[in-house]
Amino acid sequence: MDKLLIEGGTQLRGEIAISGAKNAALPLLCAALLTREPLTLTNVPDLHDIDTMLRLLTQMGVKVSREKVGAGGTASASSAVTLDASGLDNPLAPYELVKTMRASVLVLGPLAARCGEARVSLPGGCAIGARPVDQHIRGLQAMGAEITVEQGYVHARTTAAGGKLKGARLFTDMVTVTGTENLMMAACLADGESVIENAAREPEVVDLANCLIAMGARISGAGTDVIRIQGVDRLSGTTHRIMPDRIETGTYLCAAAATGGAVRLTNTSSSYLDVVIDKLMDTGCEIGLERSAIHLQAPARLKAVSIRTAPYPAFPTDMQAQFMAINTVADGTAIMRETIFENRFMHAVELIRLGADIKIDGNTAFVTGVEKLDGATVMATDLRASASLVIAGLAAQGETIVDRIYHLDRGYEQMETKLAALGARVRRVK
Ligand code: EPZ
Repeated sequence: MDKLLIEGGTQLRGEIAISGAKNAALPLLCAALLTREPLTLTNVPDLHDIDTMLRLLTQMGVKVSREKVGAGGTASASSAVTLDASGLDNPLAPYELVKTMRASVLVLGPLAARCGEARVSLPGGCAIGARPVDQHIRGLQAMGAEITVEQGYVHARTTAAGGKLKGARLFTDMVTVTGTENLMMAACLADGESVIENAAREPEVVDLANCLIAMGARISGAGTDVIRIQGVDRLSGTTHRIMPDRIETGTYLCAAAATGGAVRLTNTSSSYLDVVIDKLMDTGCEIGLERSAIHLQAPARLKAVSIRTAPYPAFPTDMQAQFMAINTVADGTAIMRETIFENRFMHAVELIRLGADIKIDGNTAFVTGVEKLDGATVMATDLRASASLVIAGLAAQGETIVDRIYHLDRGYEQMETKLAALGARVRRVK
């Protein structure tokens, strides 16, 4: 298993390019299933999760072509991907692929809508929680799909005449990002109008809606908590550029803040990070916003900042671990409340190994900043926890070894290359 060796204590300085958003790319790849025409996506990040999704789509009969554009290093190594699902003949998402990436569930809605049937393995839990998909299933049932769950698979069939889903009013019990995306995609080809209430407002949902509309879908309200979709008979292909990754952007801003550095991030946008930028300014960082770049200058010592995660536009749960890392070396005590996932503090015990002062009480963490962290060997448990450990290792004195960094590779494109371009002393070892 690969490890990252980090020699901490250097301030991050310089400029890097941000990649396309993983959590926009994954549903957008699945949107290709909705049409017989080619869908081309640009600014696709080079990530393990993207490889997994492309493998899943290929074994369903989707033809995939990918060409790398842009150099590696500080310029993003993103690529353009063209998907042709005209030969889709195997609406199955097998366990061995789904268990490695929960987002595979995003094929369920498109397959039910396009083929009238789907067999998708239940994703199973992951480190941060049980991650059920009951809302996805309930929504498709409301649209007329007949769904049974047996031997760990979700079997969906559209029983209505002609194998089409029918438009319905869909209300999710809680805000679910991929639940909203799955149902929105399914509704595009349903008979009649669907309304998703309590919809997720995340920017990645809006990016998906914009692509679907370019493909001929009739969608209004994306970005609000009520999305209306008028079903159409078929969708066409299009070319769509994937939005920048706001979580990758926030992660590098936190790394610069924790090391007292100054960085400029390009190929990104600040318009989806208001609350994260506000919180970074509360720590004492100076932040400059440009049309497609953000730069940050850290203070000599950060001030602790309390957060409470909640659905967009509130503070994103995917940035909680990274802020815990900066709070471990900030001045004061921060109260950090995680309201989305039931077990998303696993990075805390690893940060404590680096010398952090953290007390966990249920879904609340109390983090009291220390003067400095000391390098140690720590273990990554999930994607954003890994990022948190890297940030802490960069701020710590001495050497930190982050083990099991395959978690990082799922969601961060060439992290060690980008960090090295900012002056970090980091290298990957097998
Ligand atoms: C998406 O996951 C993201 N993944 C996650 O990012 C992100 O943390 C999460 O949204 C919250 O913002 C992708 O977009 C691929 P949810 P998702 O459905 O859709 C419960 C990362 O690090 N729930 O919004 O799976 C669920 O258990 C990843 O990039 C049900 O109970 O999250 C959770 O407590 C991690 N039943 C809450 O809702 C359901 O049917 C929100 O989950 C669906 C969800």
